[in-house]
Amino acid sequence: MPRKWISPSIFAADFFHLAEALTLCQEAGVDGIHYDVMDNHFVPNISFGPKVIADLCAKTQLPADVHLMIDLHRGIEEYLSLPVEYITLHVESLAPHHEELLDAIKAHGKKAGLSLKPSTPPEILSPYMEKIDLILVMTVEPGFSGQKFRPEILPKIQAIRTMIQNRPIRLQVDGGINRETYHKVLEAGADFLVIGSAFFADPHPKEWVKTIHEE
Ligand code: DX5
Ligand code: ZN
Repeated sequence: MPRKWISPSIFAADFFHLAEALTLCQEAGVDGIHYDVMDNHFVPNISFGPKVIADLCAKTQLPADVHLMIDLHRGIEEYLSLPVEYITLHVESLAPHHEELLDAIKAHGKKAGLSLKPSTPPEILSPYMEKIDLILVMTVEPGFSGQKFRPEILPKIQAIRTMIQNRPIRLQVDGGINRETYHKVLEAGADFLVIGSAFFADPHPKEWVKTIHEE
């Protein structure tokens, strides 16, 4: 198992204090920053777009992973030039003729991810297993931070860990991860945690990050 990665979801930070949120992430020793892009179509909420991501990426060396919760029919052109490590699309939004979007992400020197909503079965990933670098399993409905973790998704994480076999695919889990739930996610086979509200509310995030890395 590779080193466990932790990326706080900047969407869960206080937007009046984004600079401090980045500093907090850096001082806590996290592995990257998770950017949640919402378009009010694919999910019933709006967050931020490429300008905000570009501005924040310019202020930190931490690698970025962009979680696009958007309707893909208009393409993802404006995200391809961002200085980010991963771009993750929702498989539910990926029509057959959109498979080229995964190729475009790779052609721009980035890693490609696919995400699943809680009700989406893991088999949907089968055609893409040789094309992707990351699978993002949602343990809440996408669209909002601060929701309750859904333990019924744990078997799906296990099933996807089995599907990955020895491929170099990161298994990321996002939604409701806190000091009570993160263990379950790791035990199910995740190696990449997105932590939103629980990270920014934690009194000792540095110590928590260290604990996860050392486990
Ligand atoms: C929800 C987002 C998550 C969210 C995580 O649609 O994808 O990244 O910000 O926040 P918590 O950890 O509070 O569920
Ligand atoms: Zn996310």
